[in-house]
Amino acid sequence: MKEILNQFEDYLLSNLPQSKSIHPYFEDALGDMLKAGGKRFRPMLLLSVVKSNKSLLLSNSMPVALGLEMLHTYSLVHDDLPAMDNADLRRGFQTLHKKYDEVTAILVGDALNTEAFNQISNAPLHNDVKIDLIKTLSSDGGINGMIIGQAIDCYFENQKLELSQLEFLHIHKTAKLIAASLKMGAIISEYDLETQEKLYSFGIDLGLLFQIQDDIIDETQSSEEAGKTTQNDESKNSFVNLLGLDGAFKSANDLASKCEETLNTLDLTLKNSLEELLLKYINRHK
Ligand code: IPE
Ligand code: IPE
Ligand code: MG
Ligand code: MG
Ligand code: MG
Repeated sequence: MKEILNQFEDYLLSNLPQSKSIHPYFEDALGDMLKAGGKRFRPMLLLSVVKSNKSLLLSNSMPVALGLEMLHTYSLVHDDLPAMDNADLRRGFQTLHKKYDEVTAILVGDALNTEAFNQISNAPLHNDVKIDLIKTLSSDGGINGMIIGQAIDCYFENQKLELSQLEFLHIHKTAKLIAASLKMGAIISEYDLETQEKLYSFGIDLGLLFQIQDDIIDETQSSEEAGKTTQNDESKNSFVNLLGLDGAFKSANDLASKCEETLNTLDLTLKNSLEELLLKYINRHK
């Protein structure tokens, strides 16, 4: 797992988005949040699936893994903007609108979003595979995925949603991109459609668990510990606000058990390849 992560970090550092212009700092700003790091959960999900049966394709998959991380990073840069969550700290550093200005943060987000698809379209993979990857990422990271989730998250601040609406919000905001990460690995690996769907639906549970854990982190960790602004969800439909902290832990435990069970039903090559990464995240709230 470490080896693949290092390979990904090397690829990222040598393929930071470029723009050559008279702008005094836009190019620095473009790379800042990508270089700042983060857990790289989504690219690692994708690469772990590829490793399971097509390890020879790992290096050809790096542009896709980077594209996925770029789209996720764009969502964080925009999520932190004053109009959205208004956060000053991200990945252990000042957010881009604080360090530079709001215009820069908006445009860096835009650039990372488009560059994500540029990376994928230039990957050394078959064109039909790339179309499928682009379809998946644009759908789960787009209007029927992360974007509508973020829109609902922000629109319904200070208005309590029902549990089913809360799940819709978090499945779209977070879980679909995590599910897409597994599915994109399966597309590159040319797993059959049934396996792709199984991984996708597993990813929805995993993504929901990931967001419950994130809501717990907002409540229980300092900004320094989390590396991002916390205690920032008061007005949000977070799992902690809706279920209470104990209720959120209980939901996380239930979903963690379900995810472990599903992991054990996966084909052995997939299970072996994903297990180390998944157990770490499935249990991170414990
Ligand atoms: C934070 O994502 C936003 C959520 C969807 C919960 P991560 O917790 O994966 O953030 P990084 O990539 O590690 O910074
Ligand atoms: C954001 O969820 C999910 C995204 C699509 C970026 P949060 O607003 O809870 O993420 P954090 O806590 O700021 O990382
Ligand atoms: Mg948010
Ligand atoms: Mg936020
Ligand atoms: Mg959060």
